[in-house]
Amino acid sequence: MTRSIRPLIVGNWKMNGLTASLNEFNAFGAGNDAALRRAVDLMICPPATLLFALAHSAPGKGISIGAQDCHVKDSGAHTGDLSAVMLADAGASAVLVGHSERRADHGENDAIVRAKAEAAYRNGLTAIVCVGETRAEREAGKTLSVIRRQLKGSVPEMMTAHDLVIGYEPVWAIGTGLTPTAKDVEEVHAAIRAELKKIIGKEEGARTRILYGGSVKPTNAKELLAVANVDGLLVGGASLKAEDFLTIAGFYR
Ligand code: PGA
Repeated sequence: MTRSIRPLIVGNWKMNGLTASLNEFNAFGAGNDAALRRAVDLMICPPATLLFALAHSAPGKGISIGAQDCHVKDSGAHTGDLSAVMLADAGASAVLVGHSERRADHGENDAIVRAKAEAAYRNGLTAIVCVGETRAEREAGKTLSVIRRQLKGSVPEMMTAHDLVIGYEPVWAIGTGLTPTAKDVEEVHAAIRAELKKIIGKEEGARTRILYGGSVKPTNAKELLAVANVDGLLVGGASLKAEDFLTIAGFYR
């Protein structure tokens, strides 16, 4: 398949994974063969407790390591928090910001997400900025306006296609087994592309990777990644097992 944007598949392990998961990570590396490496970039975002270990076992596997969140500041009296500086130091090359579980569980609004994306940028990490509508917002016909508002509020203007990835994750599709139709995904991704061009400029906006996330499985991934402006996938539950994750990525071969 010829593509102008190199695809990216990100596995978000969320609050899952113990030291035994290092064995599973070896299986991710073993399955990432030459054909897959040519076709697609792979990233795993483990819990912070495993970040250092995975990052140090990653060389040679062709899989980059991302964090799941960062603080807006680089250091200071913030018990329990981790800064982008620390995550980069531990071996992360990217960080998810504004995942809907952070927005819901920790009250993170667009301004906070933007400050986190800026912290990532300042410290050389790719910010994977997540946006997505709730079920109620979709039913009220507000999907596109919600997504545009989140992008405007969360994406710093100085970012480029090199240090920014957008994750479109409808809140109602995360962990539910429900997914939007290909047509709905296409509509939202086209709107994200157009809005990104306004925020970070035409050229960078055209090249920035836009991932779909929410109940991606080996059974539906092929259809989702065939959609226009879907430049990869953000995978939660199905990223915990190397076999599932590699099957999903394998559709890019
Ligand atoms: P899911 O999670 O694939 O388990 O639905 C996706 C995500 O929240 O990143």
